[in-house]
Amino acid sequence: CGIVGYIGSKDAYPLLINGLKRLEYRGYDSAGIALHSESHELNVYKSKGKVSALEDSVADKDISGHIGIAHTRWATHGEPSNLNAHPHYSQTEHLALVHNGIIENYRELKDGLLQKGYTLRSDTDTEVLVQLIDYIQTTYKLRTFEATQVALKQVIGAYAIAILSKDEPDRIIAARKSSPMVIGVGDNEFYIASDASPIVEYTDKVIYPDDNEVIELVVGQDIRIENLNKEEIKHELQKITLDIGMIEKGGYPHFMIKEIFDQPRVLRDCMRGRVNKEVKEILLSAVIDHKDKLLNAKRFILTACGTSWHAALIGKQMLESIAKIPVEVEYASEFRYRDPVITDQDVVFAISQSGETADTLAAIELAKSRGAYIYGICNAIGSSISRASDTGTYIHVGPEIGVASTKAFTGQVAVLAMLTLCLAKEKGTITDERYKYLVDQLASVPDMIEKILKTSGGIEKIAPTFTYARNFIYLGRGFNYPVALEGALKLKEISYIHAEGYPAAEMKHGPIALVDEEMPVVFIAPHNSLYEKVLSNIQEVKARKGRILSIVSDGDKDVTAFSDYIIEVPHVDPIFEPLLTVVPLQLISYYIAVAKGREVDQPRNLAKSVTVE
Ligand code: G6P
Repeated sequence: CGIVGYIGSKDAYPLLINGLKRLEYRGYDSAGIALHSESHELNVYKSKGKVSALEDSVADKDISGHIGIAHTRWATHGEPSNLNAHPHYSQTEHLALVHNGIIENYRELKDGLLQKGYTLRSDTDTEVLVQLIDYIQTTYKLRTFEATQVALKQVIGAYAIAILSKDEPDRIIAARKSSPMVIGVGDNEFYIASDASPIVEYTDKVIYPDDNEVIELVVGQDIRIENLNKEEIKHELQKITLDIGMIEKGGYPHFMIKEIFDQPRVLRDCMRGRVNKEVKEILLSAVIDHKDKLLNAKRFILTACGTSWHAALIGKQMLESIAKIPVEVEYASEFRYRDPVITDQDVVFAISQSGETADTLAAIELAKSRGAYIYGICNAIGSSISRASDTGTYIHVGPEIGVASTKAFTGQVAVLAMLTLCLAKEKGTITDERYKYLVDQLASVPDMIEKILKTSGGIEKIAPTFTYARNFIYLGRGFNYPVALEGALKLKEISYIHAEGYPAAEMKHGPIALVDEEMPVVFIAPHNSLYEKVLSNIQEVKARKGRILSIVSDGDKDVTAFSDYIIEVPHVDPIFEPLLTVVPLQLISYYIAVAKGREVDQPRNLAKSVTVE
């Protein structure tokens, strides 16, 4: 979910709506807004569906006011509906509240409220929160700020909340724990948002509240922040640098295709100042500054979710084969709950585009509590994971808006490649000659991706021939096995076609039973040491009449001969192949999804930033 709030002299409504649109990547199954109107009403409007549906539904309503809060939802408890949409009203209709997160003990709190005579209207965990604050406020005659402090002491879970009170029409109360929140500080005005994107066009001065802090924003006054024990907290103002042009579509029909085409440029940004093509050297400040920790580590653990987890699988192969460091890759959601062995000899890497994924954040908090050193690989600057890390490397690919991750994936792989080469050099596990060769190859990757993107027209033509398919299989080996997983995930996410990625040789242990003349099988088969092996796997599929689409190296003959369709990529050292072979797979899923009329940037049921576990 995403939350936005505004208090100042501007009209709140357009500002909040624009803010919600920027946050729609966090969920978009319902939206709502609460405004202190000019006629002193507390108006709450909500609607199932996207932010645009909310806009349509308020066409004839009073949307005046300079103070408001708003929400775009990704359902956790309770189906998407008007009733379950935020803001939630308290029983006395004095408070309106928006919430991002999950209240874990909501059943217990709900039972308590029911006994006290409260009726709950929605199926959400959030409504319990607003009723609880209302109960404490009316029972103990407290102001909203104090009532919120008391209420939150009883709450277990994650939340970023903003509250309007009918009786205190000059302020917004907010609070957070484990869910992201940034407060923008303008000229006699304040903004609240789940990330900086709704704020950047108005101010570059922000505050990041910490866990268990309650905030009060009143025009003309300093921000008041206290923790739940009523201790006053002061935060330094921070400056954010986010270019508004970077979060617009720039002439492309969807963010996803823009972000795919952004890859050459943003990978150059990612490597800028780090990869020196002239002297063939890579410098990563985290490796220079924390050399001892990294070189003396007994083991690296890479933890992540979704696409970032696929990048981690590639990182493992790079780090093990070149830097000779033992690496484990963990789904953050599994790692955090299975009581893993972690010691102070481990370095735990959190790989996360958003830097906000709740499971990944919890995984590093666990690792930290057991003495591990934490290295963040994030895209969002100042995000929770980057702040919770001891050191790290930003991927610097600019904001990624399309829900299906593309440029963040290649950025993550590029950072893992730079890290591998830096560490291998320091450890002496690579010859000087090979090091220089690989630095040169990595530096050439953006040009090579540019070449692949030039063939997008051909890929667009192939795509409609696959829209009939209900299943796909993606096969690759070695460095291209995680690419097969990623290709399958991309297709699932945006076209809703079921797809499985497999190590090509494992196909004969099960998935081959699925192959018939209707089954598209995508082979990732560039010219490397496993080429002949993959070729045999292709023949096995051909013999069962599968429809074969292969990603091959420029000028390929043998795989091409057995394939129905091919897409060529330039020759590169095998360790960097994923950076190239994934690009046609991003394109093919994009064009299939478009041909099927899907909502590419906002596929159903997904959210870009999953701040709930
Ligand atoms: C969500 C997104 C995925 C992403 C995953 C991890 O599921 O839809 O695209 O890979 O979260 O996100 P992160 O921000 O931690 O990389």
